Amino acid sequence: MAMSSQPYATVLRTMKGMPTSDGAGVSLTRVIGTPALPDLDPFLMLDEFGTDRAEDYIAGFPNHPHRGFETVTYMLDGRMRHKDNHGNEGLLTPGSVQWMTAGRGLVHSEMPEQESGRMRGFQLWVNLPARDKMVAPRYQEFAPERIPLIKPVPGVQVKVIAGTVGQVQGPIQQPATEPLYLDVALQPGTQWQVALPEGHSAFAYVFEGQALLGDAEDARSVGQHELAVLGAGDTLPLQAGAQGARLILVAGRPLREPVVRHGPFVMNTRQELMQAFIDYQEGRF
Ligand code: FE2
Repeated sequence: MAMSSQPYATVLRTMKGMPTSDGAGVSLTRVIGTPALPDLDPFLMLDEFGTDRAEDYIAGFPNHPHRGFETVTYMLDGRMRHKDNHGNEGLLTPGSVQWMTAGRGLVHSEMPEQESGRMRGFQLWVNLPARDKMVAPRYQEFAPERIPLIKPVPGVQVKVIAGTVGQVQGPIQQPATEPLYLDVALQPGTQWQVALPEGHSAFAYVFEGQALLGDAEDARSVGQHELAVLGAGDTLPLQAGAQGARLILVAGRPLREPVVRHGPFVMNTRQELMQAFIDYQEGRF
């Protein structure tokens, strides 16, 4: 008997992130990549940064390497300048996205281009399959005006960063994991249903307000700064609470490959991981 697909995705679990510090002393909240949730294949890490205090972000992320995966920075507020050792440089402004395929390796810095004011956004790490871990580094970077903004129903606005909503396609291309990355803003009490790609891992992270996710009696309340890991299903019903809600909804096709990681290197075997350290030390990034 063929398995019939489930109509509605449900929330499998909810959790809060863990306060931590990274780079040269940037305060952030780690949501994926913690003891409670080491990964969610193909997602290796999700950090939320959000503060009005310069001392929380001013130290930035000076030169550091990456190999074997992608870093995705989505800025909500503030400006960050990135530079890498291949001569790439750019400024991330509010509402922009940088989807960086580190591939075989680069060394870069991500530094605040401001001395005061709010800095807010996300960095997501997306794994690459074994066949792509050593590809040449690549950037997909889009200013806010290049990211489609749709209003599928009254009171709901969706920025389509990656993947598709109806006929609208986001600018990011990554066939390996076919990611969906949406920024969804719901006015108080509004409802919407979003189609999820079949067989993908999916999560929602509420960064403003509160929302009910799931259908009818299966719906679960997800509060501000809470992650909801989603189960299988074709469609996710969303309903904003009395204060409205804003969340990112992210999905990707699982790679189902061994993950051997240490810090900024994510490979398939111990030998590849050791080679990454050697190549970095010998300046081959
Ligand atoms: Fe980085």
